[in-house]
Amino acid sequence: MAYTVPKLTDYSAGALERASAELLSALGKEAAVVKNEEEWRIFRDRWMARKNGILTQINDVWLKGAPKEAKRVTGQSVNLVKAQVEEKVDGVKARLQIPHFPTTNLGSEISESEFELEAFSKAGLVDITLPGVHREIGAEHPVIRTTNEIVSVFQKLGYSVAEGPVVETDYYNFEALNFPPNHPARDTQDTLFIAGQQSKAARERLLLRTHTSPVQIRTMEKMRPPLRIVIPGTVHRNDPPDASHSPMFHQVEGLAVDTNITFGDLKGTLDHAMKALFGSSVKTHFRPSFFPFTEPSAEMYVSCFICGGSGKRGAEPCRPCKQTGWIEILGCGMVDPNVFEFVKDNGYDPKKVSGFAFGMGADRIALLKYGVDDIQLFFQGDVRFLQQWG
Ligand code: DAH
Repeated sequence: MAYTVPKLTDYSAGALERASAELLSALGKEAAVVKNEEEWRIFRDRWMARKNGILTQINDVWLKGAPKEAKRVTGQSVNLVKAQVEEKVDGVKARLQIPHFPTTNLGSEISESEFELEAFSKAGLVDITLPGVHREIGAEHPVIRTTNEIVSVFQKLGYSVAEGPVVETDYYNFEALNFPPNHPARDTQDTLFIAGQQSKAARERLLLRTHTSPVQIRTMEKMRPPLRIVIPGTVHRNDPPDASHSPMFHQVEGLAVDTNITFGDLKGTLDHAMKALFGSSVKTHFRPSFFPFTEPSAEMYVSCFICGGSGKRGAEPCRPCKQTGWIEILGCGMVDPNVFEFVKDNGYDPKKVSGFAFGMGADRIALLKYGVDDIQLFFQGDVRFLQQWG
C-alpha cells in the first residue's frame, strides 16, 4: 500500500516522532526503487509538487491542523521531514546522474523552477546572489503628455472629454460633416479605406478616421445642447512618412454649442488656451480658411514662442516659424448650419443654436514644444529617445 499522509489527533512529541518516522520509512522505500529519470520525476513530484505533493499535504494536514499550543513542535517536525525529503530527492537524482538542465518539455519544467534553481545553484551553474532582471518603469509618451496638457486646459474651462472609434463610417467622417460624396474637399484628407466594403451603401463604408471631427456628430446625437467637449484621439491619413508627416497621428478636437455663441467666444477661448499652453506672452492671430463643417473658418496662428515673434534667433533664422514670427497651430470656425441639420432632432436647430469648433495636431504641438525636428522619432519606439521624458 502506497503511503498516504495520516490525519493527526495526537500532537505529543512522541506521536509526531512516530508519524515522521513512518513517513520517512515510506520515503526511503520509494527512493530505493527509483530506476531512471522518468521515475525520479514522478517520485519528486509525488513528494515535492507544490500542488498536493506530500510535503504540501503535511503542511496542510499536520501543521495547519495542529492546536495552537502544539504549533511550534509540529512546525519543527515538519521542517525536519522537509529537509530529509529534499535531501532524498536530490540524493536519488545524484545516484542516477540526472543532468541539471531540463530534458523534458519546457512546460513541466517551469513549475519546477524553484527546485531546479537550488540544484543549479549548488552545481555552480547559477549565481543566485546576482541582481535580478531590472524592469524599467514606463513614462508618459511625449505626444500623450501633450494631449493631456491640451485636454486639461479645456477641462478647467468646463469642457468634458468625448471619444469615438478609429475605424469610422463614411457618414460620420465625411457626409455628416458636410463633405458630400465626391466633393473636392474630400481630397484634402487622403483617406485609408477598409477593403471589401463595396457591397455596402456608400455612407456605411468603413475607413480609418482622418480627423477627430466625426466625434462631434456622434456626441451631438447622444447629448443635447448646451455642449462643451474636447476629443483627443488617433487619426490616419495616406501620407508617406517624413519629418513632419506620419500616416498615424493625433488630434485634439473641440466643440462648444449653446445659444448665442459667437466668433468672439471662439477667439477668447482659443487665445486663453494658447496662453495656458505656450506661456502668457504669446499672441494669437486668425486667418480666413475653409473647412466644409465650419462657416466662417479660420486658421489660428500663435506668435512664435521660440524666437518671440522676431523670426530670428540671434543672427540665425528661426526655423520653426520659417522666419515669419508666426506658427500655425489649428483649424477652427463656427459650426456650419448644415452640420446641425444632421442632428436637428436632438435639439440642434440651426435657427436656435450656434457653436464653434477647432481641431489641432497634438504631435505637431509636441514637436514644437519639445524642439524635436522629426515626427518619426515619436513612433519608432527607441528608448534612448523616449527616456528623455522619463
Ligand atoms: N478636422 C480638421 C482637419 O483634420 C481640423 C479642424 C478644422 C477641426 C476646423 C475643426 C474645425 O473642428 O472647426 O484638418
